Amino acid sequence: MNPLRSVGARLGLALAVVVAAALVLVDLIVVPSLERNLVNSKLSQLREAAPSIGSQLLNSSSFALDDNIQAASDSADARVVYFTVLTWSPPKLTVYADSSPVTSADVENDPLVLRAFADFPHLVSGTVTSGGQRYAEVADPLFGGPVVLLRAPLRDSLQTIHLVRRRLVVAGLIALAASLLVGQLAASMFARRLRRLERAADRIAGGDFGASVEDPGKDEVGQLAAAFERMRQRLAQLENARREFIANASHELRTPLFSLGGFLELMADEDLDPATQAEFMATMREQVARLTKLATDLLDLSRLDAGRLTVRREHVDLSALAEVLADEFRAVALSSGHELELENGIETAALGDEERALQIGRILVENALIHTPAGTPVRIRTARQNGSALLTVEDEGPGIPAEHAGQVFERFYRVEGSVASGSGLGLAIARELAELMGGSVDLHTVPGRTVFALALPAEAISREKGRVAEPSLQ
Ligand SMILES: Nc1ncnc2c1ncn2[C@@H]1O[C@H](COP(=O)(O)OP(=O)(O)OP(=O)(O)O)[C@@H](O)[C@H]1O
Ligand SMILES: [Mg+2]
Repeated sequence: MNPLRSVGARLGLALAVVVAAALVLVDLIVVPSLERNLVNSKLSQLREAAPSIGSQLLNSSSFALDDNIQAASDSADARVVYFTVLTWSPPKLTVYADSSPVTSADVENDPLVLRAFADFPHLVSGTVTSGGQRYAEVADPLFGGPVVLLRAPLRDSLQTIHLVRRRLVVAGLIALAASLLVGQLAASMFARRLRRLERAADRIAGGDFGASVEDPGKDEVGQLAAAFERMRQRLAQLENARREFIANASHELRTPLFSLGGFLELMADEDLDPATQAEFMATMREQVARLTKLATDLLDLSRLDAGRLTVRREHVDLSALAEVLADEFRAVALSSGHELELENGIETAALGDEERALQIGRILVENALIHTPAGTPVRIRTARQNGSALLTVEDEGPGIPAEHAGQVFERFYRVEGSVASGSGLGLAIARELAELMGGSVDLHTVPGRTVFALALPAEAISREKGRVAEPSLQ
């Protein structure tokens, strides 16, 4: 593997680059400005001292000149040269006094003195290099012709700068090494935690949802681990639900198939009288109908799960729908000994899918007829309430015990002791379909009275025109 692909190497390298860049910046900006400051402060010291030294020397008698220039040199901490200009061009001068005389030539050729000639009679200051050394210099032309030159070596100041620079380089190198080390350590800690997460992700991808994903940190990696753990729990739940669904579905399919197989064998093996044959055929038809219903329900559920079941958003008049339901179930109700009543309210226009709303209505009415004893009434009602259009199916059967009421909407859930032999899918499909249409199916049940209510978003009513408005597209 390319060594630069590891987080540790990259982090260490990035830190090293930052430290190196900081060092270069300090060397290019901070050190020169420090140097400038030191030189400028030396020059301003000399500029301040020059006029008073000049006037002192101007007023000195020739006997006291050497003593005075020495005293001035000590107080200004600089070499003091007092001279006069003989000719301007070429520059020629006579030195009256020099606190540390070397030769007059080094003063004559001093670039600052040459500038003093050019700028006469103004004070000039700057740095000069002489004999490999840098000096701060001030040349002050005095009234009447003589010039006082102050020259202070910058060696000490520059040495300080060099010392600072050397220390900075050493400190920088230490910081560089430390940053590489810290970067490597921090990254290897992160990398270890990330590798643990990677292993957990591989485990989950392989279908092993058993071990939880843990990370003690509260930082981003810790948050990522917590997100992984939530994902693992959800996937484990879905996997359980899937397994349960397959087990339930195969069980539900096996029962009628088993029964059909048995009848087929009986009919093939035995000589049956026509009456028994007809009875067997009727039972087989029932089983086939049950299988067909089960297959349709399972298909609906799988489409709902895959998000492939689309519903329309159209005008549905629940009152008209209730009439269709009543007509459809009148004969069944009669045969099961139930009295089917219809009470239609007003303004029951809803937005939804007519075919799916009818499917929900059928599930609810069928339940009311199947799960209640003969002789009890079943009422279909429609109404408008709190912005919803309602279709309720009410019966006077035994009701659903409170401990089961919350679960009857789960797939394959049947209340124990139910007389009828359904698959427990009807209410699950009804609720999921209603929610897909932006509505709901709710249950209110007490012994002797059970109400299932389908609520769909009510269609807006145009009061001026006194009719139901077109559904808004927004
Ligand atoms: N009106 C009702 N009165 C009493 N119990 C009911 C009523 N409606 C539903 N139940 C109970 O709720 C359970 C779930 O109903 P659901 O319609 O989901 O399944 P099912 O009727 O058993 O089978 P199917 O899938 O054929 O509809 C039923 O088994 C029954 O025990
Ligand atoms: Mg049912």
